[in-house]
Amino acid sequence: MGRGSDHITKVALVSGAGAGIGLATAQRFARDGIRVAVNDLDPKAAADAAASLGAGHIAVPGDVACQSDAAQMVEQTVAALGRLDILVNNAGIGDGALPALNQQIEQFRRTLSVHADGCFLLSRAAAKAMRENGAGVIVNLSSIAGQMGIPNRIGYAAAKGAVSMMTRVLACEWAALGIRVNAVAPGYVRTALVEGLIASGQIDTRGIEARTPMRRLAAPEEIADVIAFLVSDQASYVTGAIIPVDGGYSAFGAPFDCAGMDALEIPAEGR
Ligand SMILES: NC(=O)c1ccc[n+]([C@@H]2O[C@H](COP(=O)([O-])OP(=O)(O)OC[C@H]3O[C@@H](n4cnc5c(N)ncnc54)[C@H](O)[C@@H]3O)[C@@H](O)[C@H]2O)c1
Repeated sequence: MGRGSDHITKVALVSGAGAGIGLATAQRFARDGIRVAVNDLDPKAAADAAASLGAGHIAVPGDVACQSDAAQMVEQTVAALGRLDILVNNAGIGDGALPALNQQIEQFRRTLSVHADGCFLLSRAAAKAMRENGAGVIVNLSSIAGQMGIPNRIGYAAAKGAVSMMTRVLACEWAALGIRVNAVAPGYVRTALVEGLIASGQIDTRGIEARTPMRRLAAPEEIADVIAFLVSDQASYVTGAIIPVDGGYSAFGAPFDCAGMDALEIPAEGR
């Protein structure tokens, strides 16, 4: 958004905001005085999340991968809240985490559809509304899986790679419309879903921590904080950027895990 728009009560549409990072982002926006249209595929999750934010926020349930749903979400947002300034393309699913040789085309296609079709359809619908104001901001949820080759994530990686590239293409196309388009690329985030997988032994946090310079997973609020910066006027000259929010995961290139850093001698004058 351009500078000088602080007096307007901004309106944001956050997809997949019934849980996890999307919910944390909706909560952060509400605290910042932004009106939120909460989308989720699960209508009850969307309604509960919108109600939990307080008065002035609405639910716009629907499937981001469905063209008519995406158009309706934007229409309902503008009809109920008067405008659309911010879109966060957050809705997402996993691909079953299977080796490529075992991946079924249906799961592969659905993963691509939710992330890539969803980002395209909702961004396009939102940009048509934002164009009316001559300004807007879009933040996409990419991932370390969209930047690096992670085994057993063939569908998810392809989907997040598509999201990263659409971020760059749309930033170039829509700068002339006053619309900034950026992405965050989180590492592993402790959402309720991930906590459940950790509790059931399906995710081994030790391996992630060993590979992450900051030696921990992120909290959803730490991703929401960066999204809040990107939609703010403080980021008025930032577009086409894919910001890693990964505790250093994608920067780390040593041929040993981070525990090996303990063995590195740091000279006294360097401390
Ligand atoms: N959690 C992580 O470690 C992590 C890391 C990197 C990127 N991400 C990305 O961040 C985003 C949010 O992830 P999360 O961990 O909070 O997920 P989550 O599963 O906790 O929440 C995702 C929400 O999206 C909704 N959703 C799924 N498909 C939808 C559809 N077709 N239309 C509308 N809503 C739909 C779900 O109902 C759910 O409420 C995703 O795009 C994910 O790929 C997550």
